[in-house]
Amino acid sequence: MKLAIGCDHAGPELKAEVLEYLKEKGIEYADLGVGEGEKCDYPDKAQEVCAKVISGECDLAVLICGTGIGMSMAANKIKGIRAACCSDYFSAKFTRAHNDANVLCIGARVVGAGLACELIDVFVNTPFEGGRHQRRIDKITALENG
Ligand code: RB5
Repeated sequence: MKLAIGCDHAGPELKAEVLEYLKEKGIEYADLGVGEGEKCDYPDKAQEVCAKVISGECDLAVLICGTGIGMSMAANKIKGIRAACCSDYFSAKFTRAHNDANVLCIGARVVGAGLACELIDVFVNTPFEGGRHQRRIDKITALENG
């Protein structure tokens, strides 16, 4: 399991805490920035990070912006990406189990580091249940394909 992670200028502080947590947990990751003092537009970072999932280089991704919403809007425009903006444990769990989400978006101005790490932990460790949920994912993919 390898996680791609990136943020815009609202997120470097939270990302740094998350990276410490990933190291502690032994979760492999690719940190695509930005770092403290750097700026970027969230759609650019969403594109860069999601490309790692689409190429198969990473299995899942985490995107951090101020609210998590801009990142999720941008990420969900990319074919093959199912991004969920979550600030509670239940949603982070079931967006994997039922929606097969492959990108978790977090608002650095919404959730603290402790909760962000819990959200990532449950997101990474919850498998997609498949079955009846696969049919619904197929319908999302059909929408994506027009
Ligand atoms: C950047 O200031 C902020 O607008 C962005 O991080 C995000 O919250 C957008 O959804």
